[in-house]
Amino acid sequence: MALTIEDMAIFCKKKGFIFPNSEIYGGIAGFFDYGPLGVELKNNIKQSWWKTFVQDRDDVVGIDGTTITHPKVWKASGHVDCFGDIMLECTKCKERFRGDHLIQDVLKIQADGLSKEDIDKLVIENKIHCTKCKSPLGPAHEFNLMFTTQVGPVVTEESKTYLRPETAQLIFADFKAVMDTSRQKLPFGIAQSGRAYRNEISPRDFLFRSREFEQMEIEFFIHPKETKCALLSKEDLDFEFQILTQDNQEKNQSHSKIKAKDMIKNKVAGEWHVYWLRQVYQWFIDMGIKKENLRLREHLKDELAHYSSACFDIEYQFPSGWKEIHGNANRGQFDLQQHEKVSKKSMAIFDEATQEKVIPRVIEPSQGTDRAFLAVMFDAYEDDKERGNIVLKLSPRLSPIKVAVLPLVNKLEDEAKRIYNLLKKEFTCIYDRSGSVGRRYARADEIGIPYCITVDFEGKDDKTVTIRYRDNTKQVRVKIDDLIDTINNMIKGKYL
Ligand code: GAP
Repeated sequence: MALTIEDMAIFCKKKGFIFPNSEIYGGIAGFFDYGPLGVELKNNIKQSWWKTFVQDRDDVVGIDGTTITHPKVWKASGHVDCFGDIMLECTKCKERFRGDHLIQDVLKIQADGLSKEDIDKLVIENKIHCTKCKSPLGPAHEFNLMFTTQVGPVVTEESKTYLRPETAQLIFADFKAVMDTSRQKLPFGIAQSGRAYRNEISPRDFLFRSREFEQMEIEFFIHPKETKCALLSKEDLDFEFQILTQDNQEKNQSHSKIKAKDMIKNKVAGEWHVYWLRQVYQWFIDMGIKKENLRLREHLKDELAHYSSACFDIEYQFPSGWKEIHGNANRGQFDLQQHEKVSKKSMAIFDEATQEKVIPRVIEPSQGTDRAFLAVMFDAYEDDKERGNIVLKLSPRLSPIKVAVLPLVNKLEDEAKRIYNLLKKEFTCIYDRSGSVGRRYARADEIGIPYCITVDFEGKDDKTVTIRYRDNTKQVRVKIDDLIDTINNMIKGKYL
């Protein structure tokens, strides 16, 4: 039977990856806490993203902005006026539904981007009622997803602001400050990783749609007339994506395959957009996600966000179906122009190459951290019937705990403790002495520990230990003096 999102939530709670927030008070919908293993895994995902897209590149720099900012930022960005979902409310029990989700669940049709009027029409035509008490639903209305808050001790309309619904706007608001101080030239990017908040009408599917989550976003600034991307390598151009185009969706067909160079040739997307889609795809693959579980989905025209002229989601094939884990939008000059208009400060920069003052256009690879976490967990989860336990085949680089040290018998504890103390300075490590060795291997498998070091009598004499690799249970005997280097090499990709 396919693993459901509920099964994953139970597994994550049982093993200490994720807990429902404030459960002792009955919980609060749409909020989750990362437990001891979850926080390590999430940090490893965030570090991998930051290293790949900021530290390893010369053309991207980072910022870390606040979660509360000037309300005009959200006025300029369009979030005050158009960042909402359509809500339906039961006339009797007052249960609230997100309109497109209710239509999708009841009529089994794609409902993204439906207008208020479309939803009202479908509700009436199909006699859709409250799914809880079966009473009629009231008319559809817009609901703004931003959480409001007050800044300062006096509560007035002027002191009202918002918790940021995306990290992106802080980057646009700081654009000139970064430009003035970082000596970057077009094309270049600014990255940020941090929390975002959305008062989702119906948070659901565990971490997938929550009310407080994290994003890792890049705004990549390009000369507005620059369509060529010099960074596209031959390997990038030959890369083959699975893709659900607008055409596929309109004809009710499943995804097809296309090479990056043909996406450009067939004008499915511009060179820079294809470049960034390819970089993010590769990041997922490097984190160990199976390529066949990834695909692009082109947004339908009436589904595009208010700022975007073209957008692709990267979707992951969860057991329940394909779902968005990453959004990649062509935001054009929208945001910088808006901030220029509202702040009355110029957002133009001088481009040395063309000797022009320009407002750059933007490609935005926007990653939800929690959705990356979920995809990584689903991809790694394997119910191994032969072993009789779950094996969490996380890439060793991401594993929350890299090494378990196990004395074969209690008599070997002193030696095992010495090795544990040696390794824990270098790796996240646990020491486990309770139960049979088989049981201890199983416990390690279930939380994704890639390497179990067993200390036995043979090794006590010749100063060796065995390393057991989680994915295939193979063991090698290694000199204790070489242990740190061997494990480091294994983590880098030299598996057993
Ligand atoms: N700056 C663009 C932006 O925020 P988005 O498609 O609304 O675009 C980007 O969000 C990513 O953030 C999504 O692909 C998803 O991974 C994540 N995300 C959005 N809403 C979320 C929610 N309620 N819970 C968890 N992740 C969410």
